[in-house]
Amino acid sequence: MTSRKGIILAGGLGKRLAPITSAISKQLIPVYDKPMIYYSLSTLMLCGIKDILIITTPDNQSNFKQLLGDGNRWGMNFSYAIQQKPEGIAQSILIAEKFISDKSVAIALGDNIFHGNDLVKLLRSADSRSVGGTIFAYPVRDPERYGVVQFDQSGNVVGIEEKPKEPTSRYAITGLYFYDNTVIERAKELNFSARCELEITDLNRKYLIDQLLKVEIMGRGMAWLDTGTIESLQDASLYIRTLEHRQGLKVGCPEEIAWRQGWINDDQLEQLAADLMISGYGEYLEKLLKLEDRKSLSSFHPG
Ligand code: TTP
Repeated sequence: MTSRKGIILAGGLGKRLAPITSAISKQLIPVYDKPMIYYSLSTLMLCGIKDILIITTPDNQSNFKQLLGDGNRWGMNFSYAIQQKPEGIAQSILIAEKFISDKSVAIALGDNIFHGNDLVKLLRSADSRSVGGTIFAYPVRDPERYGVVQFDQSGNVVGIEEKPKEPTSRYAITGLYFYDNTVIERAKELNFSARCELEITDLNRKYLIDQLLKVEIMGRGMAWLDTGTIESLQDASLYIRTLEHRQGLKVGCPEEIAWRQGWINDDQLEQLAADLMISGYGEYLEKLLKLEDRKSLSSFHPG
């Protein structure tokens, strides 16, 4: 069990999904059979993180509380904070200063989905690093839309650029960041960028300059799905649907992860199942109790 704290950043305007996001937060809309935030929550849970701060816009906080509560029914602990305006991903650190306290932290963007063979191994290894920061880079077709990692000829990371017009690599930085406790002082040194945000890229650069930034490459055997546009949202839903139909196992199911982690027992899972029986989600939870590989986390990502 890790003592690392978790943050899910679920604010933002979601303008690229308007009008869907005119009255509801992006991270609450469905990706196939569950709310989008379940996936980032699952990522942090797979890492063993139980204590999570959910940062939302002022308007949407009550909806997230209604969905997730205090975390107790999943053997977890959720707290909530507000970001008044979308002033950058790195601002989450300042908002979460008290929550982080003297611990290390992992930040997950509430609209990012990760899936794949080595995910748990990668997460655990990032968690085990007690000094510095760890970020994850993933090859994409359109790196100019993201923070991009620059490598030298030997493959060492020499820089990070935010949305470069002419990217020097295909490796985009994903929405999952692990930091040691010095992140608080580093975030306090940041200045607002030209687009009036506290940039996560600037924060990562600080670690890089101090030679304390580990960039883990996520290979092509893994999926990092974007849900920011109608097309990518639809693609993500289809991806999840295809996997779930084929395997009969859900991707990003917090109840299942809590149970496999031993944070809730069989009786508690059965109760959660009963509350959801009408949608088929409950039926799935109940079936888990009869699976042959019951408590093995490896059944999420065999191999
Ligand atoms: P973005 O995709 O940059 O922004 P957005 O979600 O508001 O969407 P759009 O561009 O369509 O308006 O944000 C990535 C994730 O980070 C998303 O989950 C929202 C979150 N976020 C915040 O919570 N606060 C912020 O200040 C920023 C910049 C992002």
